Amino acid sequence: MNPARKEGDPSSLPVASAERSSAGSVFVTRRIPEAGLALLREAGAAVEVGEVEDERGIARERLLGGVRRADVLLALLTETIDREVLEANPHLLGVANLAVGFDHVDVAAATELGIPVTNTPGVLTETTADLTWAMLLAVARRIPEAHAYTVEGRYRIWSPNLMLGSDVGPGAHGRRKVLGVVGFGRIGRAVARRAVGFDMEVVAYDPHGREAVEASGIARWAELDELLGRSDFVTLHPALTPETRHLIGAPELRRMKETAYLVNVSRGPVVHEEALVRALREGWIAGAALDVFENEPELAPGLVELPNVVLAPHVGSGSRETRDLMATMAATNALHHLRRERAPDAVNPEVYDSAAYRRRTSR
Ligand code: DGY
Repeated sequence: MNPARKEGDPSSLPVASAERSSAGSVFVTRRIPEAGLALLREAGAAVEVGEVEDERGIARERLLGGVRRADVLLALLTETIDREVLEANPHLLGVANLAVGFDHVDVAAATELGIPVTNTPGVLTETTADLTWAMLLAVARRIPEAHAYTVEGRYRIWSPNLMLGSDVGPGAHGRRKVLGVVGFGRIGRAVARRAVGFDMEVVAYDPHGREAVEASGIARWAELDELLGRSDFVTLHPALTPETRHLIGAPELRRMKETAYLVNVSRGPVVHEEALVRALREGWIAGAALDVFENEPELAPGLVELPNVVLAPHVGSGSRETRDLMATMAATNALHHLRRERAPDAVNPEVYDSAAYRRRTSR
């Protein structure tokens, strides 16, 4: 046992590792669904899992050590894969990221160093769209509050004034509610499609331009200001980039209706969380549902005390089926890296034509 680890401490569990193999080795930072690990092992790869405790992040030193020993890194969104990590092993053949978002990976540095980086696009689209709607409905109809009220034994008698929420569909008054979708990639479109069943009017904005919205036939393009001012529900789905960091801050929250709700299932820093707490406390908007946070897993001061929020621990893609698919997809990409083949889901495919990649893979 590593003498640095104490007996009884969960981190004293043996790190899952394997002998070196002629098929090469993959360092998996934390425990992933077995489907992914099995795929790697069946292909003959030696697999080492850095942290086997699900509720613990991998220590930076352990991450760097693992990268030095392995041919390929399979990483999660909980690790910062920066230049130091990428440079830790001059023979690293690739990084397989088990997530569609890759804002935690320094892709520019990877490309410069000749390292392909892959993600897991597509497989989590519908699952994340489902969660968006679950969160939207939960905050509009106050489901967590209603649940707590019931299980805590506070339910004495039906009351016409009890726990009133907001209609999502037109309801008896007949006014179609407006859904504003920000970020009209795969997930945004899947969220918009579901709005048809609620007979909503859908407007959408995308930082990359209006083409995808106009071609969709399910949403009308709106500039962000117009979208925020008109929508009864605003859902956020952009990738996190320097342009989308704090896309929704105090001025944008001020533009929303007092009766409107904000749902974020993208990346926490898209929303200025402190400004959001103020908006919720002071009634600039009616409520918010957040699956992601600006400094995960930390929450902005005051957020948990608010009655008009629904919070979840980044479970957008969290169905058993989808997590298995994500693990399989990340493992498939890792095997392509290992075999020095073009990986199907490279986010920097230009790397394959670089001298740095040829040098790295020429051993
Ligand atoms: C992703 O894939 O980027 C999600 O945030 C986690 O599934």
